Amino acid sequence: LPSGSGNGRFSSVDRDDTVVVEGGGRPLRGEVTPPGDKSISHRAVILGGVSSGRCAVRGLLLSRDVVSTIEAMRALGVRLTLDGDGVSASIEGVGLHGLSEPEQVIDAGNSGTTARLLMGLLSPQPFFSVLTGDRYLRARPMGRVTKPLSLMGARIAGRAGAELLPVAVEGRRLRGITYRPPQASAQVKSALLLAGLYAEGETVVEEQVPTRDHTERMLSYMGVALRRRDRTVCVSPPARLNAVEVHVPGDISSAAYLIGAVLINEGSEVVLRGVGLNPLRTGVIDVLRRMGARIEVVGERLECGEPVGDVVAKSSPLVGVTVEGSDVPRTIDELPLVAAVACFARGTTVIRDAAELRVKETDRIAAMAAELAAMGARVEEREDGLVIEGGGRLRGARCSSHGDHRVAMSVAVAATAAEGETVIEGADCVDVSFPGFFDTLESLR
Ligand code: S3P
Repeated sequence: LPSGSGNGRFSSVDRDDTVVVEGGGRPLRGEVTPPGDKSISHRAVILGGVSSGRCAVRGLLLSRDVVSTIEAMRALGVRLTLDGDGVSASIEGVGLHGLSEPEQVIDAGNSGTTARLLMGLLSPQPFFSVLTGDRYLRARPMGRVTKPLSLMGARIAGRAGAELLPVAVEGRRLRGITYRPPQASAQVKSALLLAGLYAEGETVVEEQVPTRDHTERMLSYMGVALRRRDRTVCVSPPARLNAVEVHVPGDISSAAYLIGAVLINEGSEVVLRGVGLNPLRTGVIDVLRRMGARIEVVGERLECGEPVGDVVAKSSPLVGVTVEGSDVPRTIDELPLVAAVACFARGTTVIRDAAELRVKETDRIAAMAAELAAMGARVEEREDGLVIEGGGRLRGARCSSHGDHRVAMSVAVAATAAEGETVIEGADCVDVSFPGFFDTLESLR
């Protein structure tokens, strides 16, 4: 696994996991292809693993989270080989009914997507399995998945009534249900759709606010006749998933952190090639444009059922905005970045309806409030979001990642335009989604 903590001119590693980011507002210029999309990479590995044949995957993200999914699928009997370039993989699908009982506990590491999607896949298997994760994941809510799966007939035991990992799954026959998740969560929806591939009858998920639909798109691409209407998706057990070639686009969530640095450092212009532009993921582009960002999308095309294009971003004078309602699930993983960028906008930015941020890899509302305040930002923590008074100057500080990759990257972005140096402790967690993040940022400055 490549290391994420670069040690170029821009950032230097003084302890294993501490990175120093120089401020000063140097411009970013150049071209970069962001790493593969994390959500799509997880799905390619999981669905490829139960497809009927060999799936060739290009552009796979080899980050810590996706490696957790790869190791889990291997433990279930799937052969996956990585080619020399590290971004191509060949997956020998075992078919929907070809998985085998894992001998060991499956460790999802830091990855909520691995844990929750696998619970959906494992619940209907004719074997026993145990899932756990690192200390951050073991503190995150799992009842949102174990409860609806139990309604389908799954037998899952775990800490706090199967609210917390580790959980033990005693596979059994499931029946389809109609379910309306109380929270906007693509992981919950995807877990139920995976279980629905095996459940008797029809499994229906009715979303209140639409969330990323990569599972639906990949299932359709593999030949599954999903029925989708408005915010409802229905699946019945298919005979098989066709083996396919998958080209994973660049991750817009990773790209967003580079775009944020471009916007706030005068004289910057960067081209990001091959970025995934699924409309349920592009909230960050819409929000940043509302703030005044000069962001252009060119060469939009469809690849393997997902829209892809090149993004050109230029430094821009920004104004504060309100982010709320259906903006939130479309921007969920980029809200820490929006908060960082908002410090450099004129006026007030309000992020609300975003209580989900409190149950991510860390409590991202508390973490961003603390770290931006340490850099001198005027930021107020609310139960369901943040209020940021922009326009002030930030100064370098000693900051913590809180063990969260998106917090580490947000602090680094703010640090580029601050005065002086910022020390980020626990910066190696960027490997979770963006290995080489600090080197990439440096290469553009
Ligand atoms: C993801 C869904 C989102 C997102 C996460 C990836 C996915 O989580 O925050 O980074 O791949 O389905 P929720 O489903 O908990 O909102």
